[in-house]
Amino acid sequence: MNLHIDQAKRILVANDRGGYTVPTDRLYPFQWNWDSAFVAMGFALYDTDRAYRELERLVEGQWADGMIPHIVFHQPSDTYFPGPNVWRTRHTIPTSGITQPPVFAIALRKLHEATGDKTRTLPLYEAALKWHRWWYAARDPEGTGLVALLHPWESGSDNSPAWDIALARVPTTTDTPVVRKDTGHVNALMRPRNEDYQRFIHLVDTYAACDWEPARQWAKASFKVAEIQTTAILLKAGEDLEALAHEFGRMEDGSEIAALNEKTRNAILAQWRPDLSRFVSCDLVSGQDIVAPTQAGFIPLLSLDLDKAVVGALVDEMKAWSKGMKVAFPTVKPGIDSWEPKRYWRGPAWAIINWLLIDGLKRNGRVDDAEKLRKSTISAIEAEGFAEYFDPVTGEGCGGLGFSWTAAAYMWLV
Ligand code: DGY
Repeated sequence: MNLHIDQAKRILVANDRGGYTVPTDRLYPFQWNWDSAFVAMGFALYDTDRAYRELERLVEGQWADGMIPHIVFHQPSDTYFPGPNVWRTRHTIPTSGITQPPVFAIALRKLHEATGDKTRTLPLYEAALKWHRWWYAARDPEGTGLVALLHPWESGSDNSPAWDIALARVPTTTDTPVVRKDTGHVNALMRPRNEDYQRFIHLVDTYAACDWEPARQWAKASFKVAEIQTTAILLKAGEDLEALAHEFGRMEDGSEIAALNEKTRNAILAQWRPDLSRFVSCDLVSGQDIVAPTQAGFIPLLSLDLDKAVVGALVDEMKAWSKGMKVAFPTVKPGIDSWEPKRYWRGPAWAIINWLLIDGLKRNGRVDDAEKLRKSTISAIEAEGFAEYFDPVTGEGCGGLGFSWTAAAYMWLV
């Protein structure tokens, strides 16, 4: 018996709050959207009933328009800011008003493959389909094939250097007083800066004043990014949804999703920049490419069958970033001005990002490179425990500890 697997399971038990899993105690005391999808894949390996519960509880937060919010506030807690009173949304169970990367359908397909339980999968399939339709209607109203984020928190990579230029346009003034709780749980040097929080909350205030209506938000947004990582995840999830549609004999859904997937596939391909050896997001306010070197540029490996030359260029670039690192894969190119190996999304290695990259490398025939990244992830966790993320230079486990998605990633990758 691998003792680390035992420990990973114990973390998921400790973070259980009644059918859903908090990312970690105190720092994140509610249900987070993409965290839960990764956690469900972990549960799918040994407790499929609990995996279904994770997704079912998340869907309790789904809005009538199809959006699945990034946080569902099932029970009160005073250890987190911003809580429901800041979001001021109208859903029966309090939720945030923004979303997060749509890993959900990827988890659902894996779970369905493990159980074949159509009765239990079908309502979740319907929820995922509604959410995918929301993404295209609300976040790609012009039909480009790339979906846009209106808040850095929607990317899951909150303070990535990818947002530095776009976020600098967002005022630091807020109607809501910013009373941070995160820095009471974790060293402030590992977290976003106060100025980032001012801008994050400015956006929340702006959208709350739009009553969280997508068209009004779209018109008002001072932060609007057609984002490559989220779009690549949406496409992989779209492929999985398409497969489920066919399995359930939902041919019309299948054709609808296939058409969306095809449009998105072409749109992602158009974001390839050979001079950077990466894919890029687009800042929709300025119309400019976002060229900051972050992990997002490699995530399209997950959902595209790329030409050999493109894969070769991506992998060479990934190797250059990983050279000399104790733990791969750094989320920012080491050594550039914005590189901070301990600060959240400004350099650290994250097990779930590695998981997506490993799947992407395998999909594109780079099994040996995938294996190296898998081993690097496993050794980091075995050396330091189930930390939120890892300093790629020293290997130190950073951020919150006893972290649910790191536990799920370990079980999936080991
Ligand atoms: C936070 O509060 O740090 C989260 O990442 C927002 O989802």
